[in-house]
Amino acid sequence: MTTKKTMLSAVQPTSRLTIGNYIGAVKNWATMQADYDCLFFAVDLHAISDKRGAPELRDQTYRTVATYLACGLDAEKSTLFVQSHVPEHAELAWVLTCHATMGEVSRMTQYKDKSAKHGDSIPMGLFAYPVLMAADILLYDVDLVPVGADQKQHVELTRDLAIRMNNHYTPGWDGKDPTKVKPALFRIPEPWIPKLGGKIMSLQDPTKKMSKSDADLKATLFLDDTDKDIEKKVKSAVTDSGSEITDADDKPGIRNLLTLQSVLTGKPIPEIVAAYAGKMYGHLKVDTAAICVDAIRPIRDETARLMADRGYLDQVLKRGAENARKRAAMKIAHVYDKMGFIPKT
Ligand code: AMP
Ligand code: TRP
Repeated sequence: MTTKKTMLSAVQPTSRLTIGNYIGAVKNWATMQADYDCLFFAVDLHAISDKRGAPELRDQTYRTVATYLACGLDAEKSTLFVQSHVPEHAELAWVLTCHATMGEVSRMTQYKDKSAKHGDSIPMGLFAYPVLMAADILLYDVDLVPVGADQKQHVELTRDLAIRMNNHYTPGWDGKDPTKVKPALFRIPEPWIPKLGGKIMSLQDPTKKMSKSDADLKATLFLDDTDKDIEKKVKSAVTDSGSEITDADDKPGIRNLLTLQSVLTGKPIPEIVAAYAGKMYGHLKVDTAAICVDAIRPIRDETARLMADRGYLDQVLKRGAENARKRAAMKIAHVYDKMGFIPKT
């Protein structure tokens, strides 16, 4: 039995991954994976809540896993898998759906944003999305969920659902740990958001999050962009009025470029700002472009190599799913038992 704490996170395979996914999420998973018992997966069931197309989903799911590996996730240390390979995620999601309220789920910002474009025909999956995410987490008695800032609200909902179910099915539960004297049904997870880079902004509108699904391709740096694309996009990034390079609330475009530089080089922002005294926005853009090219190039090349080796990816996913399924099956059996379902014979 491992004594390490458990960490879990995931990305939707809806498109190629972005530098926002890398900085807000996957880069941190890679750094932290040695210290935790880790599960990382591609949430293909989530991906169909807003976008559906079989060849694309299949390709993006493989690409997401290949990108995880290229970003430094280690299939020997961490459990890497695809959500749909572990049917217990969908099973637990139904159980949680029966304990969540319409009111609390309607308050989710991501739901409000994503449903707006659907008019009167909002897919139910978009609404239920955070409940499936809660199932992903609660299925594995997770301690830590490293995500970008936009997912904090979903982890908080997960905590609320876990506490509600603990109170109902294991009254008097003791603390956060299901193995305590009075065992809880679920462990209560904590979100982990990076201090810097939890929200990388769009290059075309620095008041908006950089997103995989932005229709304006110039707004987003993808982890498989060519060097030329990266240079072009960073050099045409929308910046702010004025000409001084400072880290200020009224300079969100400049702040975004400084953040990219800081996270990717490890230099603190004040040190970077000091080095630009008397220089122009153009200098900052040229340097930021070069730093992004250097960060993305090895990820792009390794992802391409892995995409050409589907046999290896399938092998990684098979092993990951076997491991995840064992844990998930035990947990769901325990939950069903506490809820009064007759055990399978
Ligand atoms: P998604 O692209 O919505 O599947 O997000 C996958 C992970 O990347 C989540 O942890 C997000 O919070 C994180 N993420 C997505 N976009 C950004 C961004 N622009 N800045 C920082 N983190 C992000
Ligand atoms: N909802 C997350 C996103 O859009 C992806 C996700 C699904 C996730 N299940 C998760 C993240 C469990 C962390 C833990 O980015």
